[in-house]
Amino acid sequence: MIAIEASNLTRQFDGKLAVDHLNLTVETGEFFGFLGPNGAGKSTTINMLVGLLRPTAGVARIAGIDIWQQPLAAKQLLGVLPEGLNLYERLTAREFIRFVGAMYGLPDSESRQRTEELLDLMDLQEDAGKLIVDFSQGMRKKTALAAAMIHTPRVLFLDEPFEGIDAISRRAIHNVLQRLRGRGTTIFFSSHILEVVERLCTRIGVIVQGRLVAEGTISELREMAQTGANSTLEDVFLRTVGADAEAGFATEGRALSWLD
Ligand SMILES: Nc1ncnc2c1ncn2[C@@H]1O[C@H](COP(=O)(O)OP(=O)(O)O)[C@@H](O)[C@H]1O
Ligand SMILES: [Mg+2]
Repeated sequence: MIAIEASNLTRQFDGKLAVDHLNLTVETGEFFGFLGPNGAGKSTTINMLVGLLRPTAGVARIAGIDIWQQPLAAKQLLGVLPEGLNLYERLTAREFIRFVGAMYGLPDSESRQRTEELLDLMDLQEDAGKLIVDFSQGMRKKTALAAAMIHTPRVLFLDEPFEGIDAISRRAIHNVLQRLRGRGTTIFFSSHILEVVERLCTRIGVIVQGRLVAEGTISELREMAQTGANSTLEDVFLRTVGADAEAGFATEGRALSWLD
């Protein structure tokens, strides 16, 4: 069954195509990695898929439900860690996570119990009574991530979940994601940390300047990029986005003259 579907999904900002007729399907239970250079259109795509940003054209469906036609039905199936986090700064982490649980209709006792488990998991217990406004970026991200998972969503979208997170928490989150995947949760996430993508993802899509330029398993992408059997995802990625060795030389040529 198809969990996520983008059909000719398009978004224009001031006449510029940030996402350009993107077509993509992700099957239930897949762990889909969304890669691309800064400004490629990853967050714009995710925001359209989860109902945070209205597409200029095209359709986004979650489990077959058009998120812009039936937003409530689609959003009940979703957990989202958006780029902008959208936290209520004047709540404590504990209050915020519980609040999100209540919003998704969890009974109070269930919401409380899950909140404590999530706080443990994210190593936030000690700070759980502090206002989010006083949190570091990493703590905010962990709070947002806990909130995104509290209702055990069928489809989880994570925009750069590991950015700004320390190694200990990264490992913890990594383990949770693997467990979610084991339970059949579909996960769609963008990341610059290729090593994590390589370890977690069943399939990868590469977006450059708003267009999906490659899609497949790592071995399929490796074949497409012709980088050889032992190449890393970084080799494949750089080749795919057209920034491989030659481009590297070119960049070196123009590198900051004042550093010489
Ligand atoms: N709200 C906005 N207004 C104008 N331009 C935007 C807006 N959001 C994103 N963009 C532009 O759209 C392009 C894609 O951005 P984004 O999806 O954030 O990229 P990524 O997440 O891959 O780094 C960029 O050129 C960015 O400047
Ligand atoms: Mg982004």
